[in-house]
Amino acid sequence: MSEMIIRTEKLTKIYENGYSTVALQDVDLEIPRGSLSCIMGPSGHGKSTLLHLIGGLDRPTSGKVFLEDLDLTAVDANHLAEVRCRRIGFVFQFFNLLPVLTVLENVEIALMLAGIPPRNQRERAEELLGLVGLEDKLQAKPNQLSGGQRQRVAIARSLANDPDILLMDEPSGNLGTKSERELLENIEKVNQRGKTVVIVTHSPSVAKISHRIIYIQDGRLKKEGE
Ligand SMILES: Nc1ncnc2c1ncn2[C@@H]1O[C@H](COP(=O)(O)OP(=O)(O)O)[C@@H](O)[C@H]1O
Ligand SMILES: [Mg+2]
Repeated sequence: MSEMIIRTEKLTKIYENGYSTVALQDVDLEIPRGSLSCIMGPSGHGKSTLLHLIGGLDRPTSGKVFLEDLDLTAVDANHLAEVRCRRIGFVFQFFNLLPVLTVLENVEIALMLAGIPPRNQRERAEELLGLVGLEDKLQAKPNQLSGGQRQRVAIARSLANDPDILLMDEPSGNLGTKSERELLENIEKVNQRGKTVVIVTHSPSVAKISHRIIYIQDGRLKKEGE
């Protein structure tokens, strides 16, 4: 198996709604299996676009995205959805939790969507919430939680399909220092369990725990640090 779990070739995205926005241009990127990488750069310069493209949530205008040997830009929509569902977890900037459901139910729904049999959903949901330290909040509703705790529910949910790759878009964006520290511990724990993690962030603390930093400026890869 290739050492690189994700690879892009001249990845370019131009949004066309009335006028053209070049969001990403000729990005060649390699993400090693098992690594913890972060994507940094100014706001509006293409970071989310890059994350969405490598996660198969959107299609590039040109260029390629490889997940191991599979060219995601060459597969049809059903195949892409299947790969996403099986291998990739997303944590979005605004956690998208369902407000009328409890913490436990929010994770159970994701397990249902991931095809986990009903009899195993409760136990697995409790296990995932335990992993992020929320075992005592199972029956809480999202609006009874702090921002950091909601973020941890979102992480537990993103792990429902036991993905190889976890993609996070500004997960610590609205968190205080203490919540951010907890979040970082959880991210490291997930990474140590063998998952490849890619985080879009502005936070120096996130950069500090990353193995590598990818800088995006004006839609281009600026430089790759170690
Ligand atoms: N769906 C979209 N339609 C049109 N323009 C978009 C869309 N998504 C992003 N953009 C534009 O593409 C550029 C890059 O956006 P984005 O990838 O969200 O940047 P970042 O995540 O670095 O803030 C911005 O100019 C943004 O306005
Ligand atoms: Mg963004």
